[in-house]
Amino acid sequence: MDKFVIHGGRKLNGVVNVSGAKNSLLALMPATLLSPGTYHFANAPVLRDVTTMGRLLESMGVAVKQENHLITIDSSGVSKFEAPYEHVKKMRASIYVLGPLIARYGYAKVSLPGGCAWGPRPVNLHIEGIRKLGAEIDLDEGYIIARAKRLRGARIVFDVSSVGATGNVMMAATLAKGTTIIENAATEPEIVQLAEVLVKMGAKISGISTNRLEIEGVDALHPTDEVTIPDRIEAGTFLVAGAMAGETVRVDHCEPSHLTALLAKLENAGAALSVGDSWVEITAPSEIHPVDVTTGIYPGFPTDMQAQWTALMSIAKGPSVVTDTIYFDRFKHVPELNRLGAEIEMSENTAIIKGNARLKGAKVMSTDLRASAALILAGLVAEGTTEVLRVYHIDRGYERIEEKLKAIGADIERIAGEEF
Ligand code: EPZ
Repeated sequence: MDKFVIHGGRKLNGVVNVSGAKNSLLALMPATLLSPGTYHFANAPVLRDVTTMGRLLESMGVAVKQENHLITIDSSGVSKFEAPYEHVKKMRASIYVLGPLIARYGYAKVSLPGGCAWGPRPVNLHIEGIRKLGAEIDLDEGYIIARAKRLRGARIVFDVSSVGATGNVMMAATLAKGTTIIENAATEPEIVQLAEVLVKMGAKISGISTNRLEIEGVDALHPTDEVTIPDRIEAGTFLVAGAMAGETVRVDHCEPSHLTALLAKLENAGAALSVGDSWVEITAPSEIHPVDVTTGIYPGFPTDMQAQWTALMSIAKGPSVVTDTIYFDRFKHVPELNRLGAEIEMSENTAIIKGNARLKGAKVMSTDLRASAALILAGLVAEGTTEVLRVYHIDRGYERIEEKLKAIGADIERIAGEEF
């Protein structure tokens, strides 16, 4: 397992290019199960999670090829309709194959995802939604077994806004007989792109980007090509890096309209921002003002930026609180940040951050994707050397993060392979 060795204190300056959105591609790839044929996804990031999804689809008979940032998928050879535990345990998004398989093939056997580093992550809304579309679903020995002759349109009301459940049920509904209404649908940009791609495939969906989707089922879809939207969380992570360790960093190839909540909070924290049509430039404040954050569903402050914001607030000039209302225990980064000298106490799903920390380098452990990002950001400003262990977590969702940071002035090296 690799580690990063970071020597803190370097000032960041320059341009960093954002890659394609992991959470969009992880929905688009299984959507190819809905119609046999060849699909091309451009601006595809090179990430562990994308490889994992590719391997899962290949285990079903799909041909998947990634050359740099272009993914070519041929789903005409689907011969297996299962997502076994060994795949699903690596990545929860594997459950996205459930909706397409049951809609197109009338059968799916998908392992229940386990928990993750920060606790249980239920899939009840996925199951209830697809059951409402007429599928018979049993849970047996840790597997979801779904059968249906043909799905029928239904009205589905999610009691919690769920990105994954919205994606799964929307994909299934495209081939159901009749019309499906999804109330309280997620409106994240990745779900909007999935809906737009389904429409390009021949689906009939209205209400896209609102929380009420109407899907009129069709008998068949056809393949299409797409350019993956920019990854708003990668963009946000580099903007927080600029706020913490910048002089001036330009985050290019991003979609500023997907970042409004974060940009507002960065301005409140004292950063100077200029915004173009596909870039945001940030100049670090001389003093970071403390700014409280509560995460929420889109377009609120993303839970996937919560750990990074907590790292920023640990060096702000005063106390602040960060509350995660999406995942109550997504705070595994807090004990590690405290080992670097942050002073953060937890109270349920709220981090109480003292601020004014003088961070000092230490060995810290990655536990999950965004927690790892927070530790790297802290290492950039900590005095001395910080070693971030088990960076396979970060490779799941950030493409060559150490090279991108090095290119704007960070002193960060990847040390391959030792057992840490
Ligand atoms: C997606 O996960 C993202 N992953 C996550 O990003 C992100 O944190 C999350 O949305 C929230 O924005 C992908 O898109 C692959 P949810 P997902 O269903 O779909 C509850 C990253 O860092 N819930 O929107 O799994 C759930 O417990 C990853 O890139 C149910 O109760 O999230 C949570 O409290 C981490 N029952 C809330 O809904 C369900 O059936 C939101 O979860 C499903 C969800």
